[in-house]
Amino acid sequence: MKNHKVKWGIIGLGNIAHQFAADLLLIEDAELTAAASRDLYKANEFAEKIKAVKAYDSYDLLFKDPEIDIVYIATPHNSHAELSIKALENGKHVLCEKPMSLSYKDAVRIIEASKKHNIFFMEAFWTRFIPSVQDILQKVNHGAIGNVNYIKADFAFHGSETENKRLFDKELGGGALFDIGVYPLFLSYLLLGYPKEIAAKAIKHKNDIDLQTSMILQYESAQAVLHASIVSESDMKATIGGTEGRIELNAPWYAADGYSLFKNEEKEAAFSLPALGKGYSHEIIECHKCILNNEIESRLWSHQNCLDLSRIVEEIKTQIGLKF
Ligand SMILES: NC(=O)c1ccc[n+]([C@@H]2O[C@H](COP(=O)([O-])OP(=O)(O)OC[C@H]3O[C@@H](n4cnc5c(N)ncnc54)[C@H](OP(=O)(O)O)[C@@H]3O)[C@@H](O)[C@H]2O)c1
Repeated sequence: MKNHKVKWGIIGLGNIAHQFAADLLLIEDAELTAAASRDLYKANEFAEKIKAVKAYDSYDLLFKDPEIDIVYIATPHNSHAELSIKALENGKHVLCEKPMSLSYKDAVRIIEASKKHNIFFMEAFWTRFIPSVQDILQKVNHGAIGNVNYIKADFAFHGSETENKRLFDKELGGGALFDIGVYPLFLSYLLLGYPKEIAAKAIKHKNDIDLQTSMILQYESAQAVLHASIVSESDMKATIGGTEGRIELNAPWYAADGYSLFKNEEKEAAFSLPALGKGYSHEIIECHKCILNNEIESRLWSHQNCLDLSRIVEEIKTQIGLKF
């Protein structure tokens, strides 16, 4: 596929599809070839606005389009597993929005499909690829703050049941844990790996989705204290505490445009590392690299990373009694 534009198809033309498509247009070797909605009017409108070449009124038609190299799945959580597997079966590489599935079992099925068909799959954990997070990971691994013993991260906002319907909809896999709780869990997993123990408590909605969930990930000599909520606000900062200093990511930390390094309680340095576009551009570039190198997984957010995070989420789901 050398000297060839990577041809993208997008399915599910909601909020994130629009934001992602805007970033796709910033990448020189990307082409937005088709957009598919369950509604042709919506697909045409999107294609016109975002400059997609073709508009389809069914996701299946896009999967069958021989021109498409990779499909970006931007539908609600409950559909991610089946749509990812379908796209892979049709020979399409897949970038699927987080969370890749609502169960660990389904995450395993997706990875098996990627391996079976020898096609690239990645969960769209865009935060993994933004410059600030890449830089922090490198600094921490080189001992900039000594041994990391503590992480504090949250993702919380006050959502409304009328304006944020998907978030409160049990059928679609709503709730704090699956929508935003995965971000602080991701940060802890990225820096400290798979935990030894997990403890979680939630406050539930009357329909049984979690409105807010607090989690502790316990490691040999570290703890991560994490929180997600769709009913209250937080400062959306993240702190990484070590034996020789701490790092504070700028808010909102999952999209941090920089961070500060503290030593002996004094700010030693501030780093400005803005992302390209809204930040989705970096995961797009990673997909291109993998596809052009005939790799079916990213080394930065590998199949095993996707599975590990899904297993952590599954444990919390069980502890707080979430059933989809
Ligand atoms: N990476 C990020 O920063 C980020 C940010 C927000 C959301 N997300 C993730 O992206 C996914 C979509 O979130 P969103 O906020 O874009 O949601 P959204 O605005 O509700 O859009 C979802 C789209 O999915 C399609 N869809 C298919 N089946 C559906 C159903 N049964 N009910 C409703 N819509 C259905 C619809 O598109 P058509 O009508 O065109 O088929 C809809 O517009 C979620 O997995 C979410 O976690 C990621």
